[in-house]
Amino acid sequence: MSSILAPWMRRSSTRVLRAATREQRRTFQVAAARRSDSLNVHRDTPENNLSIPFKFDAQNEKLIQEVLTRYPSQYKKAAVMPLLDLGQRQHGFTSISVMNEVARILEMPPMRVYEVATFYTMYNRNPVGRFHVQCCTTTPCQLRDSDGVMKAIEEHLGIHPGETTEDKMFTFTEVECLGACANAPMVQINDDYYEDLTPETTKSILTALKEAALKTGAGGNAPGLAGSAGQDEVSGQSSGKQLKQGGLGYSAQGASIPAPGPMSKRTSCEPARGLTSLNSEMWTGESTFRKDGAL
Ligand code: FES
Repeated sequence: MSSILAPWMRRSSTRVLRAATREQRRTFQVAAARRSDSLNVHRDTPENNLSIPFKFDAQNEKLIQEVLTRYPSQYKKAAVMPLLDLGQRQHGFTSISVMNEVARILEMPPMRVYEVATFYTMYNRNPVGRFHVQCCTTTPCQLRDSDGVMKAIEEHLGIHPGETTEDKMFTFTEVECLGACANAPMVQINDDYYEDLTPETTKSILTALKEAALKTGAGGNAPGLAGSAGQDEVSGQSSGKQLKQGGLGYSAQGASIPAPGPMSKRTSCEPARGLTSLNSEMWTGESTFRKDGAL
């Protein structure tokens, strides 16, 4: 018996001995802790707490009814995203009261609404300035000098990403790809895309926006903050209509801002240096069909 067990015992003891002497150490990396609770934790602030009531206005009530008709009545919670968007547009940001009101209308547990609002970064969980400047720094934009655009914004506004100017006119945010890579580098300002930017054109857009806001009396307060003069008067997209879109830009009351889109000579995302393909003679049936009519 002992002759059978001896080799096994020898092997096992060697294995145990090897494991015991092996260095029990693994390397790991430690990065600086980055707080992300602004995205997923609600903390009461003077502008964002449960004691601030929120109700949709009559115009949005109508829109909500229209949105709800798109879904079967037993699935009306599917309308949570458009309703949150309406709430944000009316209130200026997606406050706790906006989320609760959406939950009440859609008969959903509030937590389900919080989950959606905190997942999508398009829902601003904190007040933003009148102009929300979102600069893309993902690779295609970075390769075409989004660093220069970021620096220009910082220098011009005197704030860093995540901050709002003192007059509440601009909020500056660094974001990932906004899907306009062919026209990199670009920024999104409120609902508009400004593309093919240089540091100079970026500064001129910011200057024009501020001037237009001041001249038309749109004020520096974001909707939802005290003293708001209404939503989007400057971009002319909603209630105010003080500035109208006029082909090359918006202008009214002596103020003008460039139209959204490429700030270069391009009209869209066509090649910047002319066509590089599909530039030979166009195929036509007449030139290739056989003369005898067989094909
Ligand atoms: S990388 Fe900037 S828009 Fe896509």
